[in-house]
Amino acid sequence: MSYEYILTRVDGRVGIVQINRPKALNALNVDVMMELMSALEAFDVDEAVGCMVVTGNERAFAAGADIKAMAEATLVAMLNSPMIDQWDRLQKVTKPVIAAVSGFALGGGCELAMACDMIVASESAQFGQPEINIGVMPGAGGTQRMTRAVGKALAMEIVLNGRFLSASEALQYGLVNRVVPVELYLEEAIKLGQQIAERAPVAIRLAKEAVNATFETTLQSGLALERRLFYMLFATADQKEGMDAFINKRPPAWRGE
Ligand code: CAA
Repeated sequence: MSYEYILTRVDGRVGIVQINRPKALNALNVDVMMELMSALEAFDVDEAVGCMVVTGNERAFAAGADIKAMAEATLVAMLNSPMIDQWDRLQKVTKPVIAAVSGFALGGGCELAMACDMIVASESAQFGQPEINIGVMPGAGGTQRMTRAVGKALAMEIVLNGRFLSASEALQYGLVNRVVPVELYLEEAIKLGQQIAERAPVAIRLAKEAVNATFETTLQSGLALERRLFYMLFATADQKEGMDAFINKRPPAWRGE
């Protein structure tokens, strides 16, 4: 499939989607988001892919939703737009998605990175929800995911006062997994993706579901879900293979079933 605003490729078992609107600092309009999600959903059902990486370029992961496209929008136009639904589509992707972030990850761009499962950041990455500066507020998860990631006090500053987090602050507050030099951020994200993609696929899928359930449920329901998913894995060939490989001191050969 050919796209206008994104580039896609597969490296080993990692599917990579690069947002490619550099002149607008990868500002996200509905077409960019629809293409991005179509590509991720295609990788999600591709057996050759075990993990995905979403990235931008060195200067910008994405500087937010496209302000020029929204400036004249009415309430009804926003209400009827499929734009923000695209962030919800990301939640339904079953394979792990890693954001490889360099430069600006602002507004909808920060919300996109936070909707991924992990974030690998370059030293130049900056995270922020500056919507308050243009008379609005985050609309694609910023108030919810930022608060869950960094806590209420800091989230209030980020959302109410447009404070940016540097890469090192983002690491300190638990928003990102690791920070690496600019020339390595994509390579590092792909390397992490390869490691995950080589693991037992059904266990990876259910483990991702269980971790993400933390944000949706009570501890008791989360523990019950975790237990059911854990037991379910005993119906897979890969559980027998993994445990047999351990006992016989050999590397496992996963079948994904
Ligand atoms: N939408 C549309 N165009 C954007 C954009 C955005 N979010 N961010 C940057 N651009 C465009 C600029 O308009 C400029 O285009 P022109 O050359 O045609 O003028 C180009 O990208 C380069 O940007 P700057 O000249 O501004 O670059 P800079 O280095 O001086 O500043 C910046 C960089 C601090 C990121 C600045 O561009 C900026 O503040 N951008 C807007 C950030 C923002 O407010 N994001 C939130 C958007 S609202 C949102 O995301 C809602 C939601 O929750 C879904």
